[in-house]
Order: sequence, then structure tokens, then C-alpha cells
Amino acid sequence: MITDYLIIGSGIAGLSLALKLSRFGTVSVITKKHSAESNTNYAQGGIAAVMDSADSFESHIADTLDAGAGLCRVEAVEKIVREGPQMIRELIEIGAKFSKEHGRLELGKEGGHSMNRIIHAKDLTGKEVERALLNKILSSRNIRIFEYYFAIDLLTYRNLKKPDANGKACYGVYALNVKSNKVEKIIAGKTILATGGAGQVYLHTTNPSIATGDGIAMGYRAGCDIANMEFIQFHPTSLHEAGREDNSEQVFLISEAVRGAGAVLKSKSGKEFMRKYDKRGSLAPRDIVARAIDNEMKKSSDTHVMLDMRPIGKNKIAKMFPNICKRCLSIGIDPSVQMVPVVPAAHYTCGGIKTDLYGQTNLRNLYASGEVTMTGVHGANRLASNSLLEAMVFSDAIFEKISQEEEAAHTSAGMKRHTAEKRKKLAEVDANVLTWNDKGTVNNEEWILISHNRREIKEIMSDYVGIVRNTYRLERAYRRIDMIKKEIKEFYDKTKVTVELLELRNLAAVAYLIIASAMKRHESRGLHYMLDYPKRDDINFLRDTVIRKEFKKHNKRNAKKV
Ligand code: FAD
Ligand code: SIN
Repeated sequence: MITDYLIIGSGIAGLSLALKLSRFGTVSVITKKHSAESNTNYAQGGIAAVMDSADSFESHIADTLDAGAGLCRVEAVEKIVREGPQMIRELIEIGAKFSKEHGRLELGKEGGHSMNRIIHAKDLTGKEVERALLNKILSSRNIRIFEYYFAIDLLTYRNLKKPDANGKACYGVYALNVKSNKVEKIIAGKTILATGGAGQVYLHTTNPSIATGDGIAMGYRAGCDIANMEFIQFHPTSLHEAGREDNSEQVFLISEAVRGAGAVLKSKSGKEFMRKYDKRGSLAPRDIVARAIDNEMKKSSDTHVMLDMRPIGKNKIAKMFPNICKRCLSIGIDPSVQMVPVVPAAHYTCGGIKTDLYGQTNLRNLYASGEVTMTGVHGANRLASNSLLEAMVFSDAIFEKISQEEEAAHTSAGMKRHTAEKRKKLAEVDANVLTWNDKGTVNNEEWILISHNRREIKEIMSDYVGIVRNTYRLERAYRRIDMIKKEIKEFYDKTKVTVELLELRNLAAVAYLIIASAMKRHESRGLHYMLDYPKRDDINFLRDTVIRKEFKKHNKRNAKKV
């Protein structure tokens, strides 16, 4: 297949860009499952944007920088905040229906935000955004979505017959057509990675099964710069379902918006505990809340803490959070009467493929947008509801960059000639890129042994590279993952590819990147909390001292088990 623009991924980053790029040429979106399956589709709380005259860009910027613990790239933060309102208007224009109050957008609140600024569609914001984008795409003639196409590896100099005199670039991708079980070569003028995050590298995650970090792993293998992988965000409140402790696919999220509306975190015995960690209580930024819950659970040896939604009131719960309410009721919990059991779960990958302010990677013709990237927006900890926003703004920036190039080329060559030249170039590239060669590989019968590595990777990451870390645990994790990674590579080299094997290879690569990055950061900052490297510049030093003391006690108790 040959296409002007290849977008890998059909979440908010991929689809919003597809719509814009379609005016310049053919857009092919490949996606590894059905088109709606993405992290985007599960987003609950909403999209942060300054839409109220009482709010200000400065305040949203300050909140984002504060959550990011000194590692945000200020220009990137300013960019997403200032362009936020325009992105909301664009979504409304294509038909997204957000919750309203007295005819105006209803603005929710979430942890770390000093104002109500979360635009949402009840508690199913992602589903509504995904619906609106896919619906709009149906009427666009230049866009084709290829479902059940799994991107394996980016096409780079390694896949060329003759070297490229212009240096490092990307020419498209090898993808497994899952239905025909054939690997296809897709040649593209520009390739955009929009493959989302990597929550599946942990046992308990709010992310659906697609979130195996494929884009980050592909980028890494292709020579992209990768950064900030140590910053894995754990959402403080996923639903704890008794009897489903072993659930290692996707756990159900209880949105932070619930706390924004008045819910309070409590111990099993009903005692509020967040105030002793942070004056913002249950609405402190996520790293602080997740660590505090982790600490409370270790102190009490409980499997969860409680979220008391009763202060919100029965009617408001039903109106604002119908989906959460329905899920709780399905397991016999009425949140307007009983407290809801919750536990932290891996939620968001702050690091990823490094891009500039236009979504460009260090490979020519390769761009990236959304959770797969490290744009500098999130620093050491993402502020709630900044992710959908970042994805839209950076996809728009990629469009802006490409449109500048396209318009310049149209002006100098004329539309017809420019299009003909593009086609000719792509045909030349196609002729120069090797087709997939799996000669000598077999359908390996030992797969059953290797497949266990998926569970093992998740266990290692959850046990040793979780909310609270130390050097000893990281080193132990590194040794194990390194061994598993080598085992998988050996197996991969002699085996025909399958989705399961490809995901396993990517999960091992991402686990390795997280651990290696964590080992390099000799400080506690944001989401990366190391017991042996306390924060030095920390305004909340007392809070961390409390946690450290408790953890030491816990470690002593469990020393023999480690
Ligand atoms: P995704 O939406 O994850 O899309 C990735 C796409 O890439 C998918 O279509 C996937 O199938 C495809 N893909 C992946 N690998 C391959 C491959 N190898 N080949 C082909 N296709 C591939 N953020 C907010 O800002 N506000 C919220 O309220 C919010 N709530 C959330 C709630 C939950 C439960 C979760 C899990 C996340 C939430 N987030 C929220 C985070 C946010 O949803 C994601 O960061 C964001 O949607 C990422 O968008 P994306 O387009 O980058 O990736
Ligand atoms: C939530 O609704 O709590 C998730 C929001 C986010 O991840 O930004």
C-alpha cells in the first residue's frame, strides 16, 4: 500500500489529525483492533481548558507546572493551555456533545486544578469524543481506516535496498493484517505515531488491552529519542472488585471528577486521611494521592481504601456519573448509600517519544502525537485532563507544520505538478524498501512457554517498579526484564509473527525502558518516588517524611519476603 499520510492509531490524536490532513492527500489510519478501541474511548473526567471568564491561562499553566514538579517544558505547557479553547470549539463543531448547565458548558473540577475547567460529557467524555471523530471521518473521502492492522516496525534505513543520501528517515511501516495473517509493507510520505500509552505493562491498569506501548517500542527500535519513561502515573481510584483481584486486563476507573464534585477518600473504618498528606486533601495532584493511599494500605495491610461519594448527593451522582453509578450498582454497591472500595492502578505513560513543539521526532518524516510522546507538557506528573488536550493540540501542530510545507510546495510547483512529484517519489521509495521476509521462521510450538512472560513482566513491574521504588528493587527488576527481553528476542527471530508475540516483545521493551530510566534518575520527583533518594527541594517535605517512615517500617516487616 502507498499513502501520502499514514497514521498509526485511532484515538483522539490519530483521528483529529486524520480529519485535518485529508485536505492535502490520502490518509490511511491503521489500528490494531476495531476503530473505537483506544484509551480515548475510556476517558471519563474530561478535557481541561480555560472556558470561563473567572479562569485564566496563567492559572491553568501554573497548575500544570506545579503538578509537573519542575520538569515541564514551559513553551509546551503554554501552547496546550492557550490553544485549549479552540480545540474544544473544534470538537463541538464536529458534533461532540458536552454536558451543559443553564445553556453553558458545565465545568468540572479535578485534582491539582485551582479552578473548575474540565469540559466533559457526563462521565463518558472519551466515548463521546471518539464517536464524534469517527462519525465525521465517515464523510471524508480521503480517509481510509484499516482495522485489525497491527504495526510491527517502522521502515527505516535498515529496510532499504540502497541507502538514503538525505540521512535518517521513516518511510512507513510493516504491518500485520490480522485477518489475512499477512505482513504488508505500507509506504508513506509522512508517518504519524498515535499509538497511545503502555498501561498494560502493569498488572492492574485502567488502560484497555491495546495499551502495550507498541509505538514507544517501535520508536525505540527505529532510533527515536525516548525520554521520561520513569514517570508512570498511577490513578488513585480504580474500583476494587472483591474476587477480581487477579484481573490483569483492565480495571474500572472511578473518575477524579467524583472527588472534584465532593467525594472524599477514607479508610475502611471511615476516617478521612488525605489532609495529613496535603492541605488540598482528596483533591491533591495524583502522585501525592496515589502515594498516600499506597502508604495507608501498607500501614493497615488492607487491599483498598474507600471513596465516600455520599457528600455529592443521590441526584447529582445519578446525573453527573451515570456510568460509574451503573458499574458500582452492578457489583452490589450503591454509591449514594455505601462507600466505594478503591485502589490505585497504572493509568498514564508520561514519557515516550521525544518531539519538538510541532510533533516532529528525530527521524525525518516521522511525527508523533498523544500519549505515545514526551512533548514536555507533563514533566514528572500529568495534571488531570491535560492528556486529551495535549493530543489534540499537538496533532494540530503537526497539521500546521505539514500544511506550511504543502502550501509552499503548491505555490512553487503548482498543485498538479506537486501531487505528481509526490506520487513519483513514493513509488521510488516503494521500489527501494525491502518486502517483509520471514523465510526460515516457523510457527513455534514453544509459544506456550514464552507466553507466560507477559504475566511475569506485569508482576515484576507491579512488584518492583510501582508507586514507591528503591534501587535494590529496580536492579532486581532490571536483571529479570533483561533476561526475559533476550529470551523473547531469540524466540522472535525464529518465529512467525502473531499479535500476542508482537505485544509481548513491545511490553518487554517498554518495561526495560521504564526501569532503565528509573535507575538513571537519582532523586524523588513527581511520580518517581525513590526511598533512597528523598526530595531535597520539596515544599511538602513533611508529607514525604511521613510516607518514608511508614515505608521503612513496612519494609522491615517484609524484609524476608523481598
Ligand atoms: P489512544 O486513545 O490510546 O489510541 C491509541 C490507538 O493506537 C488505538 O486505536 C490503538 O488500537 C492503536 N494502536 C496501538 N498500537 C498499535 C499498533 N501496534 N498498530 C496499530 N494500531 C495501534 N485523559 C484526559 O485528558 N481526560 C480524561 O478524562 C481521561 N480519562 C481517562 C480514563 C481512562 C480509563 C484512561 C485509560 C485514560 C484516561 N485519560 C484521560 C488519558 C487519555 O484517555 C489518553 O491519554 C488519550 O486518550 C490518549 O490518546 P491517544 O490518541 O494518544 O491514544
Ligand atoms: C479521570 O477521570 O479521573 C481521569 C482523568 C485523567 O486521566 O486525566
